[in-house]
Amino acid sequence: MQRVGRILADDFYRFCLAQNATREVDRPFCRHDFQHMLDVARISYILLVESNQLADFIRRYRLKNRQAAREVVYAAGLLHDMGRWQQYDHGEDHALAGARLARPVLERAGFAPQEITVIVRAIAAHRRGEPEGGLLGRFLCRADDLARPCAFCAARSDCYKVEHMETAREVLIY
Ligand SMILES: [Fe+2]
Ligand SMILES: [Fe+2]
Repeated sequence: MQRVGRILADDFYRFCLAQNATREVDRPFCRHDFQHMLDVARISYILLVESNQLADFIRRYRLKNRQAAREVVYAAGLLHDMGRWQQYDHGEDHALAGARLARPVLERAGFAPQEITVIVRAIAAHRRGEPEGGLLGRFLCRADDLARPCAFCAARSDCYKVEHMETAREVLIY
């Protein structure tokens, strides 16, 4: 997971997480912090492995091996909301902002061009899991919801999303 380590150490990635944090200090709802990104990364990988599509994922995106696939999935999860602060600042869709901001971080971390394409498309599609996001985009989208423990949330009565959330209807742990 050397390349993932480089993402975590990337100054611009850390800058974006800090920007998210300053805009969410008073937010009563879910935050877009490092813990959320890590939860989404882990759950996305669990979903991919449990779906029995890991071999297909490696083949389809010409990845070197299982370890490379794991790094691609973790990179997507760890970066998916890094553009949230741009949405707070000027209304840009945070999935599209994230896709744009993630690219240089991925390049610096040493991901190959075809891996960057897969990750960036998945991030751009993570809000609704649109088909352009591919398999990774779909898993990222589902993991994004599964990562939110709505059944235990103090803000659930005011949340516009709660009735659509799987974790509000059932107590699910990943
Ligand atoms: Fe998001
Ligand atoms: Fe998210």
